Amino acid sequence: MQSLSLLSVSVVIVLAVSYSDAFTRNDFPKDFLFGAATSAYQWEGAVDEDGRTPSVWDTFSHSDNKKGDGNIACDGYHKYQEDVKLMAEMGLEAFRFSISWTRLIPNGRGPVNPKGLKFYKNLIKELRSHGIEPHVTLYHYDLPQALEDEYGGWINRKIIEDFTSFADVCFREFGEDVKLWTTINEANIFAIGAYSEGFLPPGHCSTNTFVNCSTGNSSTEPYIAGHNLLLAHASASKLYRLKYKSKQRGSIGFSIYAYGLSPYTNSTDDEIAFQRAKDFLFGWMLKPLVYGEYPDVMKKTLGSRLPVFSEEETEQVKGSSDFFGIIHYMTVYVTNSKPSPSLPPSNREFFTDMGVDTIFIGNSSFFGWDAIPWGFEGVLEYLKQSYNNPPLYILENGLPMEHDSALQDTPRVEYIQAYIGAMLNAIKNGSDTRGYFVWSMIDLYELLAEYKNSFGLYYVNFSDPGLKRSPKLSASWYSGFLKGTVDVA
Ligand code: NOJ
Repeated sequence: MQSLSLLSVSVVIVLAVSYSDAFTRNDFPKDFLFGAATSAYQWEGAVDEDGRTPSVWDTFSHSDNKKGDGNIACDGYHKYQEDVKLMAEMGLEAFRFSISWTRLIPNGRGPVNPKGLKFYKNLIKELRSHGIEPHVTLYHYDLPQALEDEYGGWINRKIIEDFTSFADVCFREFGEDVKLWTTINEANIFAIGAYSEGFLPPGHCSTNTFVNCSTGNSSTEPYIAGHNLLLAHASASKLYRLKYKSKQRGSIGFSIYAYGLSPYTNSTDDEIAFQRAKDFLFGWMLKPLVYGEYPDVMKKTLGSRLPVFSEEETEQVKGSSDFFGIIHYMTVYVTNSKPSPSLPPSNREFFTDMGVDTIFIGNSSFFGWDAIPWGFEGVLEYLKQSYNNPPLYILENGLPMEHDSALQDTPRVEYIQAYIGAMLNAIKNGSDTRGYFVWSMIDLYELLAEYKNSFGLYYVNFSDPGLKRSPKLSASWYSGFLKGTVDVA
């Protein structure tokens, strides 16, 4: 396997040429899908309407240190037709959204809510009637609060059965029209953020000065949750393949957050730290899914803290993903030492386990979001070489900017353009990347920034009761690219 550091060096040299080369939509395969993404809690709003019950994200956003919530968000629940029209005008080929578990099955288990069912059927029908391919995520941080209260959600194996039943309803009800399913949103960062660092719902961690998190056991919970996420995915995938695949002919994937990684220096220590980071951040989930086991370095470092797959589970997990969903925003340097703390202060037990520290490249004010397209190309190359060139969908990529100054979002245009260019290079070098989704289609309730920073192609005026939408420069640019009416140079 070529190391990312070597790759970074060679790519940096060609950067000036390759990322500014002209390219068009036609340089990508015809069946490649360009789209944009949202998630249920961040887009829909209408949290108390038509039978929906709270998820852990509702609870988390109402905990005392939060300033905003998704109660109204961009009101996608009522405005979905307007939004689909905007997508169609933009020329979007695909739309990624997630299904709110508690809108479809209030409290997580039991009868299907007819109004929730109707909403998603209507949304899917609306997309299809405009020629837009739906890409559906089943789990995007919004576990039914009732299941969290009953047995602790993802840290209890009971979740596998409940998740599979929820997936079964989705496949049965929507599978005629949905051909692309992602079971879990960025499972690795979810396990870390929700059970080690506490910045994602349900917000467990041992200690953390950055977020006011509830208590948890950060030394075991992220690995138990990660294990159950893999098993729940594998179980849903098995069900799909046995019961639906032959008729519905869809694909089912699993997604991870994929940092671009590069060693900070060429010292042996940093090189080793870089390998460990790849094993912990990518291999944790991808190695079981492709090769049926956790990386050796994780087994050695974590000992009994890392759950063990039975033989039967290994068989079920291995090969259970038709594609991998990649969520990529930033590239970080990896180092064995700690020259400067690069993340907000937290307990960072996962990073201690991994035995590395990370350093942001660039000096973006928003959690290290800087345009480093070579880092993205490096990720795609690494996945090709280390995991048998799996089919990939880039499920999220985009740039946060201050919400109020967002309409003329030139940096976002430059960011997206550079990343699409990097992806094209990787495809030309053989990467089996099949789709790309900008995060986000529209300004949303944002995970780390409530409504202060946003990623949308469309601006939402959150002070206007009508939540008026307006296209940003990035929407016009993306539209021009998709329709072939602008020269991307
Ligand atoms: C990751 C998550 O999937 C999404 O919910 C979030 O808003 C974006 N990245 C940006 O932070």
